[in-house]
Amino acid sequence: MVKPRKQMAEVAMYSPGKPVEELQRELGLSHVIKMASNENPYGSSPKARDAMVEEMKNIHYYPEVTAPVLGDALSTYLNVTPDRFIFGNGSDEIIRMLTRTYVNPGEEVVMAEVTFPRYRTNVLIEGGVPVTVPMKQGTHDLEAMKAAINERTKMVFVCNPNNPTGTIVGEQELLDFLEALPPEVMIVLDEAYYEYVHSDDYLESLHVLDRFPNLVILRTFSKVYGMASVRAGYGITQPEVVQELLKGKEPFNVNRLAQAGAVAALGDHEFLEHTLEKNKEGRLYLEAAFQRMGLSFFPTHTNFIMVDVKKGAAAVHQSLLKQGIIIRPGHMMGYPSMLRVTIGTTEENEHFIQALENVRNEAHV
Ligand SMILES: Cc1ncc(COP(=O)(O)O)c(C=O)c1O
Repeated sequence: MVKPRKQMAEVAMYSPGKPVEELQRELGLSHVIKMASNENPYGSSPKARDAMVEEMKNIHYYPEVTAPVLGDALSTYLNVTPDRFIFGNGSDEIIRMLTRTYVNPGEEVVMAEVTFPRYRTNVLIEGGVPVTVPMKQGTHDLEAMKAAINERTKMVFVCNPNNPTGTIVGEQELLDFLEALPPEVMIVLDEAYYEYVHSDDYLESLHVLDRFPNLVILRTFSKVYGMASVRAGYGITQPEVVQELLKGKEPFNVNRLAQAGAVAALGDHEFLEHTLEKNKEGRLYLEAAFQRMGLSFFPTHTNFIMVDVKKGAAAVHQSLLKQGIIIRPGHMMGYPSMLRVTIGTTEENEHFIQALENVRNEAHV
């Protein structure tokens, strides 16, 4: 057998939320709801869908390599010059480009202990050393992360809001952290859930982009824009960093449908507002239900919520599956007594709470 690179021994395949079709096949269920992958339960913008259908006539042509039309649209939308954007096949790919371009074997990359798993995986693939820092009540401990930085550190990931806990770090705390970082350490602020944040105490990172040349901000069309399947994410950083990332980028990484759909999605404020309004409604409903049941949860600024079901979270997960509800058990993410549930539609949320109450009544917990 041909031996893979030695780094691969430490790398595990990504474990996604169970697909609806898989559970239907396994249990012969006709009605299954998935509240496991933080997708948008309201679908995607009709304007984006129309634009993608229209673009179908061009799919025999390769897409443009740097997605300039999308770059111009985002430049207007965010008031940032177009040379600061890098586009990826989802923000997943930008995480990969960053580690590929910047992390040498043996260099350290600091991240929270329970955060988005792709940081660790991509660092390992490059032969880098992930340095994970314990959290404080599901929130990044920036003081401890600062203390973990040394001369071997190349990059730091701050997921804000954090997946899977949904928490954010305070504005001043993050600014102090950015100030304290040596300029030769890259700071990646992953803001995949940026649009959902409902706090004044949150750093508007775009406003400090020029102050911190080592800053890269990541955002995506997969969440609030509901385009998880077409794969479009972006980074915002210095033009020099963009130029470095472009060198190693797959030429046609963001397909034509994704580019056209993303441009149209930016123009659909109605869909965005609708999603945010309904998500807030769902969040308040779930939080109230958890409180009624005496269950604690991390304060979330996203479209998911992590709740502590105390005993037997793995059994609760199994029982929910039998009732046709897919969520994420916390034991895979370092919080064995917790579940991460994506905030669904009103009907899905009610169904989930009913099922959770059933399980708890059965188990007398
Ligand atoms: C924090 C975070 N970053 C990045 C991603 C990747 O998103 P995408 O590649 O779909 O843009 C996700 C997806 O769940 C995420 O939760």
